Amino acid sequence: EAIRRREMLRCHDLAAKFYHHILLNTEAGVPALQYLQRRGLTLPTIEEFQLGFAPDRWDLLLTFFKKRGFEEEFLERAGLLSASQNQPGRYFDRFRGRVMFPIQDGQGRVIGFGGRILGKGEPKYLNSPETELFQKGRHLYNLHRARPFIRQQGRTILLEGYMDVIMAHQYGIRNVVAALGTALTLEQAKILKRNGNEIVMMYDGDRAGQNASVRSSEVITEAGGVPRVTVLPDGLDPDEFLRKFGTESFERIVEEGTISSTAFKLKMLRSNSQLSTQEGVIAFLSEAVRIIAEAKSPVERETYLRELAGEFNVSLESLKEEMKMVISNQK
Ligand code: GTP
Ligand code: MN
Ligand code: MN
Ligand code: MN
Ligand code: MN
Repeated sequence: EAIRRREMLRCHDLAAKFYHHILLNTEAGVPALQYLQRRGLTLPTIEEFQLGFAPDRWDLLLTFFKKRGFEEEFLERAGLLSASQNQPGRYFDRFRGRVMFPIQDGQGRVIGFGGRILGKGEPKYLNSPETELFQKGRHLYNLHRARPFIRQQGRTILLEGYMDVIMAHQYGIRNVVAALGTALTLEQAKILKRNGNEIVMMYDGDRAGQNASVRSSEVITEAGGVPRVTVLPDGLDPDEFLRKFGTESFERIVEEGTISSTAFKLKMLRSNSQLSTQEGVIAFLSEAVRIIAEAKSPVERETYLRELAGEFNVSLESLKEEMKMVISNQK
């Protein structure tokens, strides 16, 4: 068992080196290297993240490993080869024609890969399957590099994608990680919480990103952490934002544009509400009160209620009354 794990780690390490070598030192890697440079990544960044390229071939990794005496079934269990459906006993490279992002565990050992298609195509990203080494709900991309910075700042910035994390790192923002799916798992939240209380989510500005922010903030609260949300302008993702506006703007938006998860939910509710009719306002207020009721701090609740009361010209008392009803209905 332990021996097999060690072998699996060894072949991930070898595969990462293989893909990295192809990207940087071979003719086959040129289009991928140009792609990454066009996206603004520098060579030192490509080195540090050990990015690679899997050419569009069926048996490149297979041949490489066979020469080194690895078994095909074993490599399939490791998630590096796929088994042929119609020819039993035949295997082929899982990752083909993709830029390779090695995924490392908390100690920096490669345990899986994400592979991005060059240009357009489906799926955009193909990840390693769940294996003995790699369970995506248990790991966070870039954690081993970010950990000291998270500890020092007491804050994690949680991003959506590989490119977001790598670009942030290149721009000098080091306390960044990504969950390897859209929503954070409890286990991931607990890992982050151990290193620092505050977790700032900076997801993409689209619907999927917003929903993920809401779900993840619940998980963070459950783990005992403090969720906060930063909304980037114009539907940009962090990678695009950084390339457009740079580090200082990024840091400013983290400082000034980060709101509590309650404020974020209220903001989303507001943008989905019909506030031009009286019914719309009433429905909005009662849903808003429900959201505010979830906030733990009485001061926080009162602050939001006061704001609403002022804005919609209703008494604070009626909102408090409404909140009591919501809370007693929940019990
Ligand atoms: P770029 O287009 O390369 O900038 O990627 P992105 O990170 O901006 O992509 P997107 O916002 O669409 O997705 C965010 C993250 O979700 C990605 O980094 C992946 O980890 C994951 N993801 C995106 N598309 C897919 C997919 O087709 N399959 C899987 N398994 N994961 C995906
Ligand atoms: Mn290298
Ligand atoms: Mn997205
Ligand atoms: Mn994105
Ligand atoms: Mn992107």
